[in-house]
Amino acid sequence: MAAQRVGVIAAIVGVVALLAVWAWPRADVPVTAAAMVDVVLPAEFTDTQAAGATLFAQNCATCHGDHGAGAEGIGPPLVHIIYETSHHPDGAFYAAVQLGVQAHHWDYGNMPRQPDLTEGQIARIIDYIRAVQRENGIF
Ligand code: HEC
Repeated sequence: MAAQRVGVIAAIVGVVALLAVWAWPRADVPVTAAAMVDVVLPAEFTDTQAAGATLFAQNCATCHGDHGAGAEGIGPPLVHIIYETSHHPDGAFYAAVQLGVQAHHWDYGNMPRQPDLTEGQIARIIDYIRAVQRENGIF
């Protein structure tokens, strides 16, 4: 009896663990959609930019592609002239992450706000995206 009960408990734990992995935020799902632009990466990132790169991969890349190269059919590239600083200054990034975005440049639908990120984390993401943009001639 006891052994059976242990078996049942083990099975339940297993199912719960599988569900947890399955339901983990989609950010951990690898980016499978095709990139939309060719992105050249800077030779080096500062520590802050590297931290931003990790946060971007975890929170933004499913829709904006690896390194902001876009994800075909899902979301636009951020390494794009539309997002140069004069048209989308840093404030636009904070607003996008904290408030979400009504679709207006593309037809991928609205961007949902990403409420789990702190201002400091958003700042790191911006530092990283700006570095990648600069490397690709977008100022
Ligand atoms: C669920 C998909 C999705 C996720 C996740 C997402 N975005 Fe977006 N984002 C979009 C879409 C779609 C647009 C384009 C809206 C439009 O048509 O202009 C957009 C637009 C933007 C813009 C432009 C805002 C403007 O003023 O036009 C910025 C900046 C941005 N995203 C940054 C981010 C950052 C940084 C993250 C991660 C913290 C992120 N996004 C996560 C889908 C997403």
